Amino acid sequence: MKITEDILYVGVNDREIDLFEGQYIVPEGMAYNSYVIFDEKTAVTDTVDARFADEWLGNIKAVLGGKAPDYLIIHHMEPDHSSSIRAFCEAYPETVIVGNAKTFGMIKAFFGDISNGTLAVKDGEKLSLGKHELTFVFAPMVHWPEVMLSFDSTDKVLFSADAFGKFGALDADEDWACEARRYYFGIVGKYGAQVQALLKKAAGLPIEIICPLHGPVLTENLGYYIGLYNTWSAYGVESEGICIAYTSVYGNTKKAAELLKEKLLEKGCKKVVLNDLARADMAECIEDAFRYGTLVLATTTYNGDIFPFMKQFIDGLTERFYQNRRLAFIENGSWGPLAARKMKAHFENSKNITFAENTVTVRSALNEESVAAIEALADELTA
Ligand code: FEO
Repeated sequence: MKITEDILYVGVNDREIDLFEGQYIVPEGMAYNSYVIFDEKTAVTDTVDARFADEWLGNIKAVLGGKAPDYLIIHHMEPDHSSSIRAFCEAYPETVIVGNAKTFGMIKAFFGDISNGTLAVKDGEKLSLGKHELTFVFAPMVHWPEVMLSFDSTDKVLFSADAFGKFGALDADEDWACEARRYYFGIVGKYGAQVQALLKKAAGLPIEIICPLHGPVLTENLGYYIGLYNTWSAYGVESEGICIAYTSVYGNTKKAAELLKEKLLEKGCKKVVLNDLARADMAECIEDAFRYGTLVLATTTYNGDIFPFMKQFIDGLTERFYQNRRLAFIENGSWGPLAARKMKAHFENSKNITFAENTVTVRSALNEESVAAIEALADELTA
């Protein structure tokens, strides 16, 4: 696959993977992207998951013939991109490995000593390949500390590491934003401040093509992708609507959540998303919570606390610095309802959270009083 006259795609699709990073379902697989830049000096960017080392080395050989690349540039050391470094070094012992001081510390930790030559670059340093000049842009914690991007000022290509990546193999026929958002909030969501810093650095570059480590190469309408990244990393509200996330043991809390959805729609709310935290994909639920401006949490009181899936969900939000949102609660408890108080306490260190005035308490099952409370909450949320 040709990206420009001089840049070729040599990555691989992984249709065998069950859980990406050991936890994310990827029904459409994953892509591990790698590129070759042809010039007086030839550079390969990043490696792939070790399970695909042979296929990837075959791709490189197919485009380079018998020639060895001059450089292997490592933008990110997470093993989905780095675990074929050892195989690469065995195939190409003359190639110089390009990284930064942190990259080489991690290479040693993962692989021990390598005998290839190395070139440690600094933030803002340039590497000339001949016609192409790469500038390295450090992006610590997007998504590991050693991460760096590089910008080819000749073809105006940004090699963006994990940024602008998505779940899904390259032959997956699916919407970019849906799986890019789930990927972003799952994997990079905690590092909004660092992504904002990177976007500020990148704003000065005349980028025409983005080559990420996962997902498709982005060649047009870049403002759309950069705009979404800006919203996500600033913890801004992307879409109008309300998200209700619930757990239910015997169906009564579910009935309350469903009734609230019905009332919200009746009262003019354009979009209400309802997620059963025990059954839906947790990463999808987290993505939805960050997408909309209002989140309603409904759960049962359980072991003097809240139901386990709700606890896991709230942890998933707060560890990613959930903020700038309105929250409302529905609690259920047959003898001592305290779930609302417990849920609220989890957000005490979260920034800019507004709590709805109305909280719904269900005592076992819906009754006149709790239905009226749901009506009042729906009124408040649609006012
Ligand atoms: Fe795709 Fe952070 O590795």
